[in-house]
Amino acid sequence: MAREYFTHKGVLFPCLDYSPEKLSYVENEFQVRDDDVFNITYPKSGTNWMLEILSLIRCGGDPSWVRSVLNWERAPWVENHLGLEAALKYPLPRLLCSHLPVQLFPKSLQRSKAKIIYTLRCPKDVLVSLYHFSKLLRIFRDPGSLDSFLEDFLSGNVPYGSWFDHVTGWMGLKGNENFFSITYEELQQDPRGSVQRICHFLGKELSEEQVAAVVENASFQSMKGNKMSNFSQLRDEYMNHQKGELLRKAELCSLRFAGICGDWRNHLSEAQSQRFDTIYRERMQGLGMTFPWD
Ligand code: A3P
Repeated sequence: MAREYFTHKGVLFPCLDYSPEKLSYVENEFQVRDDDVFNITYPKSGTNWMLEILSLIRCGGDPSWVRSVLNWERAPWVENHLGLEAALKYPLPRLLCSHLPVQLFPKSLQRSKAKIIYTLRCPKDVLVSLYHFSKLLRIFRDPGSLDSFLEDFLSGNVPYGSWFDHVTGWMGLKGNENFFSITYEELQQDPRGSVQRICHFLGKELSEEQVAAVVENASFQSMKGNKMSNFSQLRDEYMNHQKGELLRKAELCSLRFAGICGDWRNHLSEAQSQRFDTIYRERMQGLGMTFPWD
């Protein structure tokens, strides 16, 4: 089953741990609660970083929870089998994750005041990160060459579908009072200010010291060294630990390089970058959205 995909409502999903029945259940029957907080991203956009930040905010910066409980248990992904089971048993109030595109997200969100935090990242960096991660994560297909993967990414022939559809879909909620969006690049440039903004959105005001503790304990280095957050405990059935890590920058590592923005420049050729830009312009122009990477 591993490395096979199925299509659900035009979007690809891995066969291992996902099914059309559970996806339909999540979309139509899963009950979103007013006190839920959702960490939503397109894959490789900073999901686990935001998960860490939200976990730490919940504990006022105290790292005991992030050091003792696995990240996918602290905030389960609602759309896969194990995540859904955990979400349904989660003690209230829930902290949950999802990579679902907005059209497949639980419909009950529309009648709820649940808080949505949507993190985006430069799509060329997402592409490169997903390319590398697809070699490790056994539920994803081997990505093949970067050239062919680029075409798959641009056409949405990758798990969770098109980056363009995901971003334009979710950003359609911008302006709703229960929707907050932020970029990986903003988190990188201004971690303290970003954490303060997130706290404000959540209605949870922390002291300067607590904010500093959130930033410190969610840093690249802290997460890389925390086995509850770095995916080292993910079973071999899911991830080939010989081939690499979730926090990928070990090879380059010095603090200066940790968690890079613009890493795509080290991987994409000029021709690949131009090909990306052409499709990006076609898909994004006229939408009135501007991002740090534009
Ligand atoms: P790279 O593959 O570019 O290194 P996700 O959590 O959505 O799967 O995203 C994974 C990406 O976020 C990886 O990017 C990883 O290194 C980066 N990341 C994870 N934790 C981070 C942190 N604390 N600071 C900066 N980047 C982080």
